[in-house]
Amino acid sequence: MNTEQRTILLSGDDPNKRDYQSVVEKHGSPCLVYRPSVLEKQFKSLQSALPNVDLYYAVKAHPNSNIVKTIDALGGGFDVASAGEMDLLLKHRISGRRTIHTHPIKKDSEIRDALRFGATTFVVDNVYELKKLTAYRSRVGVLLRVSFRSESAVVDLSRKFGCEPNEVQQLVSEAESLGIHVKGLSFHVGSQCANAHKHAQAIRDCAALMHSINATAKTPMSSLDIGGGFPADYLLQGLDIDAFCAPIRQELNKLPADWHLLAEPGRYLIAPAVDSITTITGKSKRGGLFWYYLDDGVYGSYSGQIYDHTIYPLQVFKTGLTHACILAGPTCDSIDVIAENIQLPELEIGDLVIGLQMGAYTAATKTRFNSLPDAKFVVLDEHAE
Ligand SMILES: Cc1ncc(COP(=O)(O)O)c(C=O)c1O
Repeated sequence: MNTEQRTILLSGDDPNKRDYQSVVEKHGSPCLVYRPSVLEKQFKSLQSALPNVDLYYAVKAHPNSNIVKTIDALGGGFDVASAGEMDLLLKHRISGRRTIHTHPIKKDSEIRDALRFGATTFVVDNVYELKKLTAYRSRVGVLLRVSFRSESAVVDLSRKFGCEPNEVQQLVSEAESLGIHVKGLSFHVGSQCANAHKHAQAIRDCAALMHSINATAKTPMSSLDIGGGFPADYLLQGLDIDAFCAPIRQELNKLPADWHLLAEPGRYLIAPAVDSITTITGKSKRGGLFWYYLDDGVYGSYSGQIYDHTIYPLQVFKTGLTHACILAGPTCDSIDVIAENIQLPELEIGDLVIGLQMGAYTAATKTRFNSLPDAKFVVLDEHAE
């Protein structure tokens, strides 16, 4: 774990401290605290940074009813990848028409579930998958996912999915011969992508492919899905999404005005809208270091440290002389350590440790190890149920 990448905030009396304390008094610990107003702000900022791009929230980032309600109220669409994610939307009476199904590999039963749900746009990246859609060709439109490898992304999603750019023409011809409508292309430059020029290059390459294939295709492609990957501000440096997206906008502005532009953001939207509250339940001094044992860890809300390779900023409400210490999770496993060799003022049993920017790929990947209870999901502000 790269502790140098960890942002630690030490404060005596932060205004949020009382909020966190009252959440714990009311709901117990651990908790995940959700602020709908933050999601709303993120959604609107990305919308204004990417004008004319329809945003489909990637439900996988944090599949939660309260989050779905906020996106619904904002008029956003939803990127779904499983029947479970569609079930969540169904509970909120969200029409399949407002979704895109982005999993490139699907069982026939999953395709049928999605069609029953009302989804009509499906992502495909190979001929075997195209063939699965033949039986449903009158009801589906396809986005062909193209692979663009990305070393600047923390999670390179093009390793596992996407066809090579030079395979697109062949796939379009296959789809034509199967009678399947190819609406356009999609890509994902990788999650937590620090470099918007990756998006920009992928847009340029997809546009070039679409223009050249459209010149001879029976039905021209006119949709471009620029995926997700927009970064969260884990280093709390005040990421300016408008400035970040400038190279992307520049490329999008060159596209024909009648093309339908889509994006599937997850992390950027939801990461800053959720904080984790944990409480120190035990303390010991081992090998000269303080070990603090928390009531949530890498098998729970901090699972993103393992699966998503993310180091979350931490906050404690103490100042003063610091000591090297270790923050460990509640399970019996020794991998369950949130932070090693970080410097904190001496903490006591009962003190709170806050994980910031913990909305994306956190609760989504938690496990049930040791049969510990889930962190309670608490809605903090004005949109509370
Ligand atoms: C197909 C697809 N779309 C969208 C996303 C969301 O990406 P991000 O959270 O990086 O915006 C993912 C993430 O895994 C994905 O696999």
